[in-house]
Amino acid sequence: MMKFNLISFVLCFSIVSLNIVAAQKKTINEKIDSVFRLMTLEEKIGQLNQYNDDWRATGPTTVDNDKVNQIRKGQVGSLLNSLGTERIKSWQNIAMESRLKIPLLFGQDVVHGYKTTFPIPLAEAASWDLEAMELSARIAAIEASAAGINWTFAPMVDITRDPRWGRVMEGAGEDTYLGSKIAYTRIKGFQGKKLGELNSLMACAKHFAAYGAAIGGRDYNSVDMSDRMLWETYLPPFKTAVDAGVATFMNAFNDINGVPATGNKYLQRDILKGKWAFKGFVVSDWGSIGEMVNHGNVKNDYEAALSAITAGSDMDMESRNYKNNLAKLVKDKKIPIALIDDAVKRILKKKFELGLFDDPFRYCNAEREQAALNNPDHPKVARAIAAKSIVLLKNQDQLLPLSKNTKTIAFIGPLVKSLRQNKGFWDVDVPGVDSNFIVSQWEGLQNKISGNTTLLYAKGCDIEGNNTEGFTEAVEIAKQSDVVILSIGERRDMSGEAKSRSNINIPGVQEDLLKVLLATGKPVVVLINAGRPLVFTTVNDAHAILYTWWLGSEAGNAIADVLFGDYNPSAKLPITFPLSVGQIPIYYNHFNTGRPAKNDNNHNYNSSYTDLSIYPKYEFGFGLSYTTFEYSDIHLSKKKMKINEKIEVSLTIANTGKYNGEEIVQLYIRDKVGSIIRPVKELKDFTKIKLNAGESKPIKFYIDKEKISFYNQKLQWQAEPGEFELMIGASSSDIRLRGEFELIR
Ligand code: GLC
Repeated sequence: MMKFNLISFVLCFSIVSLNIVAAQKKTINEKIDSVFRLMTLEEKIGQLNQYNDDWRATGPTTVDNDKVNQIRKGQVGSLLNSLGTERIKSWQNIAMESRLKIPLLFGQDVVHGYKTTFPIPLAEAASWDLEAMELSARIAAIEASAAGINWTFAPMVDITRDPRWGRVMEGAGEDTYLGSKIAYTRIKGFQGKKLGELNSLMACAKHFAAYGAAIGGRDYNSVDMSDRMLWETYLPPFKTAVDAGVATFMNAFNDINGVPATGNKYLQRDILKGKWAFKGFVVSDWGSIGEMVNHGNVKNDYEAALSAITAGSDMDMESRNYKNNLAKLVKDKKIPIALIDDAVKRILKKKFELGLFDDPFRYCNAEREQAALNNPDHPKVARAIAAKSIVLLKNQDQLLPLSKNTKTIAFIGPLVKSLRQNKGFWDVDVPGVDSNFIVSQWEGLQNKISGNTTLLYAKGCDIEGNNTEGFTEAVEIAKQSDVVILSIGERRDMSGEAKSRSNINIPGVQEDLLKVLLATGKPVVVLINAGRPLVFTTVNDAHAILYTWWLGSEAGNAIADVLFGDYNPSAKLPITFPLSVGQIPIYYNHFNTGRPAKNDNNHNYNSSYTDLSIYPKYEFGFGLSYTTFEYSDIHLSKKKMKINEKIEVSLTIANTGKYNGEEIVQLYIRDKVGSIIRPVKELKDFTKIKLNAGESKPIKFYIDKEKISFYNQKLQWQAEPGEFELMIGASSSDIRLRGEFELIR
């Protein structure tokens, strides 16, 4: 009897729990349908409509004094650039007056921090420290979500090989493998464990696709490439974003192979929502739907809306084309209502996942906002990753690190006392927060030096212009010093969106200032602050060079940590630094060509310039340390592998210098022969290893078919039998160990 009761209990319990699970499992879909089935066509179109609020316009704007009314009528699905919980609450309150009370989504470019500003993404990429980058994005999400925001338009995962393009600052550089790893990491950081957790943001993989390949490095310009190049170089970070569970995509302004990305069915329907089965939603970039008229791809806004919704653009940022045309397109039977329904359901799903239907104000809690924005740990994290992002390019006679007891330091340059410049292009003006709460470079050094040190200051010159009147004062203090630190570079708004430059030399008379300082005979350390690789000449004569990018809130402290050795620089360049703008595009993973130039001295019928070297100033993966590392004992577990086998690559890294440090060990592979020619080398793995002075450690890499596959002529991802060269490098040119292996059938 007892046994029977037990069985019946277990049976009943499982049926009940299955029902609960089933009920829970269907909840979001049921909830979506419970709202969706009540929606009028106008309310459905409203969900596809996103407006800019008033904090900042990041594109051409439309004056619209009717937003409140439209939100009240359920004709708006999302706002961007609304800042602060009070303002966001006020908009959400208006949305709650609408018939169906569908909550608004609030989006914001939280690209490298909200209140705490982290290094620009290109600088963080130089750290190659995935854990640090995830934490940086995590903190950005904690702060922004506490301030009412639930969606960041980041990470930008566009690969680019052209530093003239201003948005190079916003990505992870030129390499697909590194860029894919960083895309995954940042999305995990922004979205946290699960959407709907209070400190998570929806992330947005952008700009789909190949926006970084704009011809001439000119923003918004055309992109033209083979599908094979698209698949091999530019799409992988986006696929990684889908694998990371990214909530949204943003399409791109550019046309690609003759079709604007916003109206590109191949990209958005065939690849993203088809082959990759992406279940989130796609937002157009600012006004890009209407811009298809400018592209000459459609005749008018009516056709633009038709093209965009058909191609898979779900939400219309700021162009008002969907609001003004979709109803008519349905009425004219130009589009099936199913296209709109699919877009609406994708957007409603995210609003449910974020918990906004349960509580539209859940992200608007003033106490939580204050706690998050004043968390003392956040600046510490920013300082740590900023130090990890600084690249040591030169250190003649081990001038660095400086002694904290240096008697007199002359700190010179137009960026020494700057505040906001250190925040880079995509900073956020948090309401009620002094946007100058930045540790300037000047303050950073003052915080660091001992009482025995005198810190002298002179601006020397401006960033731009040809005024050299400040040189005299600068030379005077240099002569009184034991060492000169010169902080020069661009303005923060000389890189970023719509900031492409044909000349990427250090602007103004800053290098002339360096020249007169060098003439004093004093040792000179140059800090270069920029959002892109710059081309420099006189800087090459400095005794030490640190590339300090734009490092954010803790810039000054991080720079001081590196200058005085409290952090041994470990960063390596995520993008090639050209000798001259004339070399662009220049990148490490190039093809060999039929007439490779072996060196710079022979131009005899080979692929070289007769007037310039073919080699960059600094190669991809380059960066020095205050210590030295030795690579030894490479061993491959086998020399021949079958397609489903792996090769273990083991080696030893030793810190042979006198400072503790970190080394980014890079693994490159060359497929010697392919049905599609293969690059002379491709980054296929890396590891960042900490070693105390004198310490050595073994490290291991694994080669599998994924690492030797590529897209063939038919766009099939496959590996081809043959010989491979394996290179272990401290950079893409500084190859320390080599090996060979063969893929056999
Ligand atoms: C801008 C940018 C995009 C950004 C959006 C909202 O034009 O292209 O990256 O997220 O508009 O600011």
